[in-house]
Amino acid sequence: MALNYISAAEAASLIKDGYNIGLSGFTPAGTAKAVTAELAKIAESEHSKGNSFQVSIFTGASTGESCDGILSRAKAIRYRAPYTTNTDFRKAVNNGEIAYNDIHLSQMAQEIRYGFMGKIDIAIIEACEVTPDGKIYLTAAGGISPTLCRLAPQIIVELNAAHPKHSIGLHDVYEPKDPPYRREIPIYKSSDRIGTTYIQVDPKKIVGVVETDWKDEARDFAEADPITERIGQNVADFLSADLKRGIIPSTFLPLQSGVGNIANAVLAALGRDKSIPAFEMYTEVLQNAVIGLIREGRVKFGSTCSLTLTNDCLQSIYDDMDFFRDKLVLRPSEISNNPEVIRRLGVISMNTAIEADIYGNINSTHISGNKMMNGIGGSGDFTRGAYISIFSCPSEAKAGKISSIVPMVSHVDHSEHSVNVVITEQGIADLRGKSPKERAQAIIENCAHPDYKNILWDYLKLTDGKSQTPQALQAAFGMHVELAKSGDMRNVNWGQYM
Ligand code: COA
Repeated sequence: MALNYISAAEAASLIKDGYNIGLSGFTPAGTAKAVTAELAKIAESEHSKGNSFQVSIFTGASTGESCDGILSRAKAIRYRAPYTTNTDFRKAVNNGEIAYNDIHLSQMAQEIRYGFMGKIDIAIIEACEVTPDGKIYLTAAGGISPTLCRLAPQIIVELNAAHPKHSIGLHDVYEPKDPPYRREIPIYKSSDRIGTTYIQVDPKKIVGVVETDWKDEARDFAEADPITERIGQNVADFLSADLKRGIIPSTFLPLQSGVGNIANAVLAALGRDKSIPAFEMYTEVLQNAVIGLIREGRVKFGSTCSLTLTNDCLQSIYDDMDFFRDKLVLRPSEISNNPEVIRRLGVISMNTAIEADIYGNINSTHISGNKMMNGIGGSGDFTRGAYISIFSCPSEAKAGKISSIVPMVSHVDHSEHSVNVVITEQGIADLRGKSPKERAQAIIENCAHPDYKNILWDYLKLTDGKSQTPQALQAAFGMHVELAKSGDMRNVNWGQYM
């Protein structure tokens, strides 16, 4: 059956008000771009005529500017799940304009299959190749594309020449069965392949192929600064010590690493630390630092959902596919982030916190308990199943006006029951085997910024000091309240709570 080549505008015109749209990709990597950019124009035109036009977006993780950015500015998004990093989208969510469902990334595909979120009307899938018999070869991310392609009655393929056809082979497409028929996912080491290199669909469902040449809308990384360098070195020192003590097997264990500048700096530090043997990654996002480490032989294999790289770094992989082909695999997010596999492989998770409390609860998503930052991403998928779960962050934010260590987190994403280690540039709090009161000592002493240590010790004096988890409820958010009042947590006056 011949493929129907159409323009991005023609493809966008197939999308109606109220549609649920499924998008390929995971981070800006692999996300469809051309059709959503045209869709924003349709929404603006309809709005100018006084008509409603909004869609719901279902995707793997964050997208790029041409989806979340353009569509949220055009007020074209009614509902979206899951993770996003776009500034304009964030503003719209925190203004109450968009309904945002921030779920664990591993659950996205299955929750669509289970019918928790309604039906997918149309899928837009970025591909480096599509064949007349319905084989779709994805680009730089697995995301939730296999499920979208199976469930959507209509599929638009964005055939993107920025991702060459010789990149075919990076993907391992596998969709588990749903309960009660699900079996274990047969991945026993990070490099195992269990599926196909393409998604097979009924070619009749492909309503249009849009040819583009649109690079991923990747963000650049900030250069590591002394704080992120120090955090990275502390993580490396911690893992090296656990290896020497025999807690981590001498063969080492697969690592997961989160997103952002801190994660990039942590991996760079691990790569430099030669007391840590060459290791594998079982992760959801590979950032630039890992690609260099694969070249140096410090990372032996990378299993991931996406290549969230700067474009020059991605191009350098495409230019060197003979080298990378057997060192990388791209999986759908429900496999890359699968808690069953993560627990079984013994993955060591390393994620970033917005704030941690003195008992080890972690807030990864909300500023001052109210405003969404990005979302939980895959941090929960990995943390709960991890062999060792690590959270790191700078000890303070906004030039010292905010302490990242607080008496009680203003929003809980990862509870004290799942968090093993907290690391800042100040030091390492190893929470394993500790009671809550012991954890509080370790976190304040080792992780809090010197400007905040006494403030936190003084907070503890407000509690009875004896209970299982001593809190002074009247003061537990005192530092957050002070931030809202004077703009600086250091001004907190515990006296008013006595
Ligand atoms: N209160 C207010 N703002 C805070 C803060 C706090 N306690 N802690 C950090 N911030 C601000 C920083 O000042 C910075 O602001 P800016 O963008 O205006 O400069 C911003 O949050 C990002 O912090 P930064 O220290 O640069 O770290 P980051 O870029 O590594 O991002 C998270 C940190 C937590 C926002 C990010 O890692 C995230 O979204 N994590 C959740 C998802 C996840 O863990 N996924 C992992 C699997 S991929």
